[in-house]
Amino acid sequence: MKTQFIAHKKRTHYCGELSIEHVGQEVCLMGWTHRRRDHGGVIFIDLRDRTGLVQIVFNPEYNQEAHRQAHRIRSEYVLAALGTVRRRPEGMENRDLKTGEIEVFIHAFEILNEAKTPPFSIYNPGDLSESVRLRYRYLDLRRPEMQKNLILRSRAAAITRRFFESRGFIEVETPFLTKSTPEGARDYLVPSRINKGTFYALPQSPQLFKQLLMISGFDRYFQIVRCFRDEDLRADRQPEFTQVDIEMSFVDENDIISTMEDYMVYLFRECLGIEIKTPFPRLTYREAITRYGKDNPDLRYGLEIADVTDLLGSSEFTLFREVVSSGGLVGAMKIEDDRKLSRKDLDSLRDYVANFGAKGLAWARINPEGWTSPIAKFLSEDEKAGILTRTEAKEGDLIVFVADTPKIVRESLGNLRSHLANKLELIRPNTFVFAWITEFPLMEYSETEKRFVSTHHPFTSPVMEDVEHLLTDPGRVRARAYDLVLNGSEIGGGSIRIHDQKIQALIFKALGLSEEEARSKFGFFLEALEYGTPPHGGIAFGFDRLVMIMAGADSIRDVIAFPKTQKATCLLTEAPSPVSVEQLLELSLKIVK
Ligand code: AMO
Ligand code: AMP
Repeated sequence: MKTQFIAHKKRTHYCGELSIEHVGQEVCLMGWTHRRRDHGGVIFIDLRDRTGLVQIVFNPEYNQEAHRQAHRIRSEYVLAALGTVRRRPEGMENRDLKTGEIEVFIHAFEILNEAKTPPFSIYNPGDLSESVRLRYRYLDLRRPEMQKNLILRSRAAAITRRFFESRGFIEVETPFLTKSTPEGARDYLVPSRINKGTFYALPQSPQLFKQLLMISGFDRYFQIVRCFRDEDLRADRQPEFTQVDIEMSFVDENDIISTMEDYMVYLFRECLGIEIKTPFPRLTYREAITRYGKDNPDLRYGLEIADVTDLLGSSEFTLFREVVSSGGLVGAMKIEDDRKLSRKDLDSLRDYVANFGAKGLAWARINPEGWTSPIAKFLSEDEKAGILTRTEAKEGDLIVFVADTPKIVRESLGNLRSHLANKLELIRPNTFVFAWITEFPLMEYSETEKRFVSTHHPFTSPVMEDVEHLLTDPGRVRARAYDLVLNGSEIGGGSIRIHDQKIQALIFKALGLSEEEARSKFGFFLEALEYGTPPHGGIAFGFDRLVMIMAGADSIRDVIAFPKTQKATCLLTEAPSPVSVEQLLELSLKIVK
């Protein structure tokens, strides 16, 4: 079935790299049939490889035999094609295509392989359901957008390695078959065949190993490493994901923060050609929660939350007054709205915050003649003046209020910020705004576990002046921890670690872990701490999240080649799947229905 045998020919160029410079040259291309059009006897094919598309032309006047054979070519057939690069006729250029100024006239080609009709068109996939994409991931990955994402990811990894090597970091691989490292999620367990009845845990992070490497004297470690967490999935979470994991000895928070800012600058410059400004702003956890309702605030826009609780303690507006007297919060947010929001819009905002438990949303528009607002008549002139000052609202602005428990007010207004930013189109494309969040609480009370749990992980150093409260009032102890937030997404987190075994033991005690439990879980680590541990600290970045934001993708699944669904399954391989009785027996396992 071969047209003319050209298998002895080697590929000379990638499709996407051809340009005006190559006009007149003979080239040999290899790729997939993206799209084919017949025009009055001439057949045009967009040939695709990972670099892009180029139009190849089968013209009977140029080569009759090639043209005759080209009728057999269908979508996604794999071709080798030999031809001459020509400038497209005047007016026929395609500005949307990188190679749109040229085309390749084909005089010989070979169908290297045929293809079944794919379940969706690669060039015009339409409204593809994600389940179809994941079931046929190898086809989905042919789409130029996905190729671009994975190529960016590869580049980001290479640039990351280059950066850390140039700064004297050493890449060390740490085990996957290991013991539980707590990061707040459930472990994936792997049964041991040789040691029946025992299990390895897949690492939630290399946390303990990287600290052991500091004890070993490696001083600066990094690794681009897979982590495993059995947790409920969301758009920015996967059961296995990749971290850029870092640890340094003889440093404090500022050394780590400034090195990581340098890393971000280098990464964005080399990958995207974008100059990021440093230093990044730093907010304490308290500030972030108070001003933005969240510890991962999106700072690409304003919409700050003002606490007006103290202004309304004796207000005539019963609802506000009662919330204040019961220890609640009244949060206000100024919206520079230029009268874009209608009453109906305001109703929809009220419905939106109801998702977070808010029982209502009061509003006020600041007009030259005074406030237009359903609650204005209940507010005194002093209260209104106080609110204006606190929210920095001016004429024309809109102020919205939620009064409730602090948690509900923060969740409502914190989420309303991003909802409004989208609705009012406040986000400029291609902006990257970073912020460090510092001074996290070391521990939080868990209602489900009825005890304090680590906010990050139990190896995080407390702020030394707070240590005295560890056993009496753990909730007020601050951690020497920091998160890096980019455009409202937590892309990294780390801390200065405990290097003193006595403090580590105290932390376990505050977490309600008995000495035996601590010994059995982390005995090896506690022991290691006693052999000359240098002061150290580190951080880990969520590499998938970082690449997602750099690629402008909506989900980390779009920057992972073979991701899992929300139900933690792989639709392509059908993992997880049952195993044979023999396999179970070998592992001494029995399935309990
Ligand atoms: P942490 O648990 O904050 O810290 O994880 C670091 C970063 O990893 C990303 N991340 C995830 N990305 C995708 N899917 C997930 N399920 C997922 N979970 C976390 C986030 C997060 O900021 N050992 C510590 C780091 C340290 O202290 O040095 C750790 O793992 O972007
Ligand atoms: P009502 O007296 O229930 O009609 O409420 C008067 C105004 O206050 C309306 O605009 C409500 O949407 C608003 N409102 C009701 N509950 C709350 C609340 N918890 N926080 C803020 N505004 C509220």
